[in-house]
Amino acid sequence: MKIGFFDSGMGGLSVLQHAMKILPQEEYIFYADEENVPYGTKKREEILKYVDEAFKFLIKSGVGAIVVACNTATSVAVQEMREKYSLPIIGMEPALKLALDLYPGRKVLVTATAITITGEKIRRLIGKLGAETLVELKALPKLVEFAERQEFRSEKVEKYLRGELLSYDLGKFSSIVLGCTHFNYFKDVMREILPENVKILDGNAGTVNELIRRAKLKRFRSEKVPQIEFFYSGRRVTDSEELLRLKKFLKRLDEMEMIK
Ligand code: DGL
Repeated sequence: MKIGFFDSGMGGLSVLQHAMKILPQEEYIFYADEENVPYGTKKREEILKYVDEAFKFLIKSGVGAIVVACNTATSVAVQEMREKYSLPIIGMEPALKLALDLYPGRKVLVTATAITITGEKIRRLIGKLGAETLVELKALPKLVEFAERQEFRSEKVEKYLRGELLSYDLGKFSSIVLGCTHFNYFKDVMREILPENVKILDGNAGTVNELIRRAKLKRFRSEKVPQIEFFYSGRRVTDSEELLRLKKFLKRLDEMEMIK
């Protein structure tokens, strides 16, 4: 099956990369809305419009399922897209349930974009899990900018994360949930800053499992390199410098994958 992966930018590559490892027999289209990233600081109506444009493009390209590899776009637009289009649509959700399943009764720091954190969807998730007293929410918008310009490890990144994370009484937290796919690029810096007891959790495996279930796919062990096409806001990426930039993102994600 041809599967469309969509993100405002380069964060969604982390979910795509995980899917390509588990489902190498499928074909992929990755659509990054590079002309409009970041979404996290924009108005809901604007995001809805961009997501709909991406969906139209992906559906026209013949995809059989769409993974919204962006927590922000999921939070704002997934419900509308499901009402409008009939193919399987898999959204992303901060891995709060995973955190509470792994560490029952322990506090969790959920990080995301400002729009995800102030949205109805996260409130409902926290309510459904009865986790009101266990969750702290933190927006880390600058990480999206750092990621897009491939500034993964720098003094500025480290200073920003120290400033944002170290004000919590981290000894009391079981984990930090990366509720924005762009945050996956900073796992090593976070690991160095956070105390050992705070585990780093992302929603990538959960989303790919949901894709398998919803699109009725099968896991395969194979050396096959899956077929993939990249698009930036509807424009096919063929330029060698842009492809090199993508490669650098994927390499970085490979290095981050095992950090917990
Ligand atoms: N990657 C996105 C997410 O998972 C959003 C980043 C942005 O565009 O602000 O939330």
